[in-house]
Amino acid sequence: MADNKCAARRYVYVWEGPVRISHWLNFFCIIFLSITGVYIHYPFVTACSLSNAPYIMGIVRYSHYLVGVIFAFSVLLRLFWLFMGNYYSSWKSFSNPFKKEDRKIFWGYFKYYIFLERNPPHVLGHNPVALVAYIVLFNLFILQIITGFALWSQADPNSTMYAITGWIFNFVSNQWVRFYHYIFMFLVAGFVINHIYSAVIFDFKSQSGEISSIFSGWKPERRR
Ligand code: HEM
Repeated sequence: MADNKCAARRYVYVWEGPVRISHWLNFFCIIFLSITGVYIHYPFVTACSLSNAPYIMGIVRYSHYLVGVIFAFSVLLRLFWLFMGNYYSSWKSFSNPFKKEDRKIFWGYFKYYIFLERNPPHVLGHNPVALVAYIVLFNLFILQIITGFALWSQADPNSTMYAITGWIFNFVSNQWVRFYHYIFMFLVAGFVINHIYSAVIFDFKSQSGEISSIFSGWKPERRR
């Protein structure tokens, strides 16, 4: 059959449950942690202005820590799935810079992003340029989690949490750890803005169910 717009498309189950759960948990946690984090940094509502809520900072901090724990589990789940999941979510799908075909696909996408190419090659899993951004992002997540738990652990220097994360204060003072934790938030926010923009634009352009796939898990095997 000719490859025209009416041709039926075969769908492939690309994103398994744990990938989608972790994706949406990360999304909501990042939003919540950023809002509460900004409040911790800059308490724009003071206890005095809300006489019914004198413990507002305590509540915000407590919920930041609680959601921070959920976020840490979500990131761990995704990292676990890097080794347990199907091909598309596994480290095995990472492009190999020593393979000519992988390099060709990478440059195809790179040129697409810098407006030198109209139609990047069709890939079912992560596109290789976005994958580099995801690797950087997950390293940021890990730094955010380590600095977050280290700050929290200072409440009790005899705790197990301090034993695991407190070593960081041998290298940087706690004010610098706070500062890094604060700055990383802007880097993560920059990624989120770009990620949503790229997902929407790519969904239209590629007609390959970019956005719906992160809800359903399914993607068409090829473009229309
Ligand atoms: C994307 C994830 C996260 C973002 C965007 C974020 C954001 C922030 C921001 C902006 C602050 C204020 C920094 C300051 O000026 O002092 C903060 C403080 C803090 N965060 Fe996070 N955070 C994240 C993850 C975590 C995690 C995973 C934990 C660990 C449970 C955590 C624990 C803390 C602690 C203990 C503080 C200091 C609170 C205080 O000084 O009272 N954060 N966070």
